[in-house]
Amino acid sequence: MPHISVKSPEGEYLIGIYPGMYAEQVHPGDEQWQLRNRVEAIKSSRPAAKNVIVTNTTLAPLYGGALFDSYANAALAIIPDGEQYKTLETVAKLYSDFVEAGLDRGGTVIALGGGVVGDVAGFAAATYMRGVQFIQIPTSLLAMVDSSVGGKVGVDLPQGKNLVGAFKQPKTVIIDPQFLRTLPLREWRCGMAEVIKHGLLADETLLQRIEALGEWHDAPPQMDDDQLANMIERAVQVKVDVVQRDPFEKGERAHLNLGHTFAHAIEQVTHYAVPHGEAVAVGLVAATRLSSARGLCDETVPERVEKILEQVGLPRRLGDLDPEEVFAAMATDKKWQGGRSRFVLMRGVGQPVIVQDVPKEQIITILEGLI
Ligand SMILES: NC(=O)c1ccc[n+]([C@@H]2O[C@H](COP(=O)([O-])OP(=O)(O)OC[C@H]3O[C@@H](n4cnc5c(N)ncnc54)[C@H](O)[C@@H]3O)[C@@H](O)[C@H]2O)c1
Ligand SMILES: [Zn+2]
Repeated sequence: MPHISVKSPEGEYLIGIYPGMYAEQVHPGDEQWQLRNRVEAIKSSRPAAKNVIVTNTTLAPLYGGALFDSYANAALAIIPDGEQYKTLETVAKLYSDFVEAGLDRGGTVIALGGGVVGDVAGFAAATYMRGVQFIQIPTSLLAMVDSSVGGKVGVDLPQGKNLVGAFKQPKTVIIDPQFLRTLPLREWRCGMAEVIKHGLLADETLLQRIEALGEWHDAPPQMDDDQLANMIERAVQVKVDVVQRDPFEKGERAHLNLGHTFAHAIEQVTHYAVPHGEAVAVGLVAATRLSSARGLCDETVPERVEKILEQVGLPRRLGDLDPEEVFAAMATDKKWQGGRSRFVLMRGVGQPVIVQDVPKEQIITILEGLI
């Protein structure tokens, strides 16, 4: 099975892709209440343990039991599901679960879930007793290809997303693509926005493979374990390559923000009603159109991006959002140092560049083209 080795400032670790490792024991058709009872039973069966599995209320009944069975000395901590719980309050609750479970400095926090669980559990692991070991078991596509890689963990504040955080490298990341069988279609698509972003940044073959999957209808296209594992592996590799060269975001890591200046503005003006992946999709169209408008690449690049996003079923337009309002939100981006606009643009597939001081009129023209 594929392994990716990652060099980090805290040492080397492995990302393993093992289809069926944890998910095969799950039957999504099972009565939820039975599974829930099981989770309650196992929670109370091991009051003290060296390791704590952190998961959420959606994933605990699906996969908590299988994982619990495979870790001999683990307790389960369950947080509510949703970005609104990616907070310091949830971290405080986890600290008390850790104490209750007897987690000590030699113990390990195991995050089982999407990016929210990974970010919260990772931040708790980074700070509890000045840091305990951390394992990521991502269950959403986005978490597999993006948030579980690179060591950033953290929580939101009422004033904004991801305002408190740390770098915490995992001891290992275990990806079981079969978790995705229960992932809702909309979440699949959101994860694909980041996969497509990684393809655009550095892997033309990945883009071609997505194109070859054809049109998505009311489910993700059929992929066998190898195909799916391979898509995930390639998308992970792009992020790994970048974060290895720039672990603390001093330079190149900024390329991973392709489309994200636009995306964050869209999320902000819609008060996060538009999910991140959908905002990134529109952002990718905007960033590649801006690249073409500035003569960095020809129009086939944005055209290809729009086509592939359409194929997957992701949005490509701003809808009824006001371009001036979106621009105003962009101008508050913390990455616009000293108020100078800063974008990741593309010279072509695999050739990102950072461009500063794009005139407002040019940005507005791009946004108006997306109404
Ligand atoms: N640390 C980083 O570098 C980094 C990078 C990108 C994003 N993030 C963060 O990640 C978060 C988004 O992650 P996400 O998209 O995974 O969101 P999420 O964690 O909220 O998961 C999305 C939804 O899918 C459900 N889910 C996950 N796996 C499932 C499965 N296998 N079966 C059924 N349901 C499943 C979750 O319970 C949730 O309801 C954001 O908070 C974002 O800030 C962090
Ligand atoms: Zn993103």
